[in-house]
Amino acid sequence: MNNDPFAAIVLAAGKGTRMKSALPKVLHEVAGMPMLAHVLSAAEAAGAARIVLVTSPEQESVRAIAAGMGFELTNVIQQNQLGTGDAVKAALPALDGHAGAVLVLCGDTPLLKSKTLEATIAGVNEGNAICVLGFEAADPTGYGRLLTDTTGHITDIREELEASEAERKITFCNSGVMAFRTVKVLDLLEEIGSDNAKGEFYLTDIIAAASAKDLSAGTARCTEDEVLGVNSRSQLAQAQALLQDRLRETAMAGGVTMHAPDTVFLSHDTSFGNDVTIEPNVIFGSGVSVGSGVTIHGHSHLAGVIVGDNVTIGPFARLRPGSRLEEGSKIGNFVEVKNATIEAGAKANHLAYIGDARVGTGANVGAGTITCNYDGARKHFTDIGAGAFIGSNSALVAPVKIGDGAYVGSGSVITRDISPDALALARAPQVEKPGWAARFREKLLNISKAKSQKETIKG
Ligand code: UD1
Ligand code: CA
Repeated sequence: MNNDPFAAIVLAAGKGTRMKSALPKVLHEVAGMPMLAHVLSAAEAAGAARIVLVTSPEQESVRAIAAGMGFELTNVIQQNQLGTGDAVKAALPALDGHAGAVLVLCGDTPLLKSKTLEATIAGVNEGNAICVLGFEAADPTGYGRLLTDTTGHITDIREELEASEAERKITFCNSGVMAFRTVKVLDLLEEIGSDNAKGEFYLTDIIAAASAKDLSAGTARCTEDEVLGVNSRSQLAQAQALLQDRLRETAMAGGVTMHAPDTVFLSHDTSFGNDVTIEPNVIFGSGVSVGSGVTIHGHSHLAGVIVGDNVTIGPFARLRPGSRLEEGSKIGNFVEVKNATIEAGAKANHLAYIGDARVGTGANVGAGTITCNYDGARKHFTDIGAGAFIGSNSALVAPVKIGDGAYVGSGSVITRDISPDALALARAPQVEKPGWAARFREKLLNISKAKSQKETIKG
């Protein structure tokens, strides 16, 4: 769809009291991203030429986070939360005389698809002064009902509290998304009053005002899922489940095998190559990209990591931000990797911590190896050269450099650099006492013999 440039107004000034949270409602995350960011992304993807964000005076954190995520926004502060009509009125001056269409949407509907927004805007360009995005609600309680005439145009939106018995039975509802042609509608906003059950200025009242002036209002439609508005933690969980389903479907359609999709949790930005296999109970935090031919065994947790082609991970691996696993590398069970590069073909197969490090091409990190990267105040780097072999249960005290092809004897505590191809041993030397064990056993045997003789005499 190719719409004329339009502006978007995103309403987020509401208090969100039902979340019972110190965090503003629109900053609660779904699939690793604040709800508001989902809405702003959808508006951007639909082609909004500019976005005006309406917040309340105390929502400094909302403005900061939206700006920090790189969205180009004009901020408008709605001094008092007098209703959605008042919020849109407050936003209008920020449109700087923009004469085209305007799309109004709410910051708490994270599942909106950009295609649906495009269709709503297109509904305005077709000659209607207004287009409302409607949906069929399984249970319409709480939503504004769309009142239609015989031509299918809407003549009014009735909010729950003002609806008659008969109107409450209507299941075609207002999603909260509305598009209008600025020139036609600006004056109508002035006509909206607050003489209603809530004492608020309802944006939805512009439909009746338009109707009275023979300006027609059409509708676009979407599914109920897509416009789920999050007002409570329970609805947040519902949104999360719906979005996870969507993300998994997209991943599988792109060539990912999931043994138990319902147990795999993805982030909004998780990306996969082809022929990736994911076993049950794998969690992806944000910032993960996975190459092709990768196997991720069960119970692994990944965040902020780039995984190259043909890598094997887990089971029970933890990959933390700043990590890169290059082609064909292997991270096995109970291995934690943080801010480290595991170069091509390198392996850490069991029980290790690799933090602030490079593991060179083809190197092998033995079970129980720890990079001691933290001295209590600062982090230090461990550099393991290509083809190096780190014996099991070694502690590499950073900063330290292990040369290419070097060997570290098992159980070593390495505090100094090791030259390429050298063997380093840093552990107590082994002492051997020939025949000691046999003599010791003999002694034990004699003691127990003497003891049992004594007991027979007593008895
Ligand atoms: C609104 C619609 C209703 C629709 C429903 C869909 C109105 C009057 N009603 O009702 O028809 O079915 O959404 O979910 O529009 N906001 C502000 N400033 C305010 C008041 C609200 O920015 O002064 C923002 C809120 O942060 C929220 C959005 O506007 O993002 C909607 O407000 P809310 O109070 O949740 O409206 P509903 O009662 O859900
Ligand atoms: Ca709402």
